[in-house]
Amino acid sequence: MSSKILRVALLGSALLIASGSASANADLAKAKNCLACHATDKKLVGPSFKDIAAKYAKDSGAEANLAQKVRAGGSGVWGQVPMPPNPQLNEAEAGTLVKWILSVK
Ligand code: HEC
Repeated sequence: MSSKILRVALLGSALLIASGSASANADLAKAKNCLACHATDKKLVGPSFKDIAAKYAKDSGAEANLAQKVRAGGSGVWGQVPMPPNPQLNEAEAGTLVKWILSVK
């Protein structure tokens, strides 16, 4: 295989992996029922993921704090409606989802 073809092939698979993981995160959010109350770019019961990402853009501790809050539930940051606890999430899943949410633009 010439190096040029090899490079094109590598680039193609890198793109596939990147797009695959974005939809894997969306699938996880769906499987864990987050999308019953959240959408990427509009407010439902809870704030949109885009608004959450904007709010914490400059907060370096947000990832850990939010991962904990997602599992424990909480209220008072966005309004009076509370988020119920999500014990169906393990720590790794909570971290993965929060990282993804904070990357939504
Ligand atoms: C029953 C509705 C509901 C479900 C299900 C739900 N949320 Fe929420 N979520 C809310 C509400 C309401 C808030 C705002 C809470 C507040 O004002 O503190 C919120 C807030 C958040 C925040 C921001 C917290 C903060 O302190 O700024 C994150 C991140 C979040 N949710 C992620 C998730 C993830 C991930 C899931 C799925 C595991 C999920 N939510 C499931 C209703 C929900």
